[in-house]
Amino acid sequence: MKEKIASIEKEIQAYVIKDNAELEKFRIEFLGSKNKLKDLFGELKTVPNEDKKEVGQLLNGLRNLAEDKFNVVKETLTDSTKTADSIDFSRPGEPFEIGARHPLMQVRSEIIEIFSRIGYTVSEGPEIEDDWHNFTALNFPPEHPARDMQDTFFVENKEKEMALRTHTSSVQVRVMENQKPPIRTISPGRVYRNEAISARAHCFFHQVEGLYIDKNVSFADLKQTLLYFAKEMFGESAQIRLRPSYFPFTEPSAEVDVSCTICNAKGCNVCKYSGWLEILGCGMVDPAVLESCGIDSKEYSGFAFGMGIERITQLKYKVNDLRLYSENDVRFLKQFTGSI
Ligand code: PHE
Repeated sequence: MKEKIASIEKEIQAYVIKDNAELEKFRIEFLGSKNKLKDLFGELKTVPNEDKKEVGQLLNGLRNLAEDKFNVVKETLTDSTKTADSIDFSRPGEPFEIGARHPLMQVRSEIIEIFSRIGYTVSEGPEIEDDWHNFTALNFPPEHPARDMQDTFFVENKEKEMALRTHTSSVQVRVMENQKPPIRTISPGRVYRNEAISARAHCFFHQVEGLYIDKNVSFADLKQTLLYFAKEMFGESAQIRLRPSYFPFTEPSAEVDVSCTICNAKGCNVCKYSGWLEILGCGMVDPAVLESCGIDSKEYSGFAFGMGIERITQLKYKVNDLRLYSENDVRFLKQFTGSI
């Protein structure tokens, strides 16, 4: 009995089926109403009881083998593309969709490039930060209301309170702690704030912050650096203006506007008819911050600035909703193919 099963198994495996007529022959022989296996199932009665289970399983396996072969071959024959004969080698190929870099990453590279031309290096740091690097070293004392300026996501941690960084100024603290001036660096990276998601705000976004520390660095250096950046990014006709502002880590501090790139400062609904668009925050590094990071504030001074990559991209490409950046809609993303 077992030999018969083995020989039919071989027969099924070796059976060549090239077309539907042969497939039908196979079906009649192994799966039809009078198929070969049926006789064997009939013979099962004569098998001694102790062997019945094993032989029964072998027979079931044989039937499954025939069914599987039938189904696989049937599918291959129906799907004409799968048979070698039906491939039309003269048909033109289908083009590959080539992806592109995300618009935010394109603008990030552009910002890095602009600053690297005037000697800035790139520094990076962790996205999960401790209180010291994100706040305390930057002159945010505990309980200081300025901490509310940046709603924070805290991360549960038994040893030490940790948070998702709210700005990449935390990276600058790390740089100042580890390097001696002169320091000239930018820190691009993702930051997180606990904000309701809307067209104008998101719970995460991207920043590039800059830091320059040396002897005799002045506010005039800061202004000139930012003007250079605005012209490189938005074109030769771009102008900037500084408005007094407040940040705990800079003194004096300012917010910087660029002349509206959309209406050339004539006034439009994007700049709310003011001719100006806010692009970044900046200021002279507070001496207390330098001291916290081990830099002698009598010998050195410096400036810092920070901008949102989403905002710069919005102004450059007229993107009116922040959510578009993270929705991964190819109709949006495709518009930036080939920009850089
Ligand atoms: N860290 C500030 C922010 O995230 C930006 C900034 C950086 C302002 C450096 C002044 C100087 O909002």
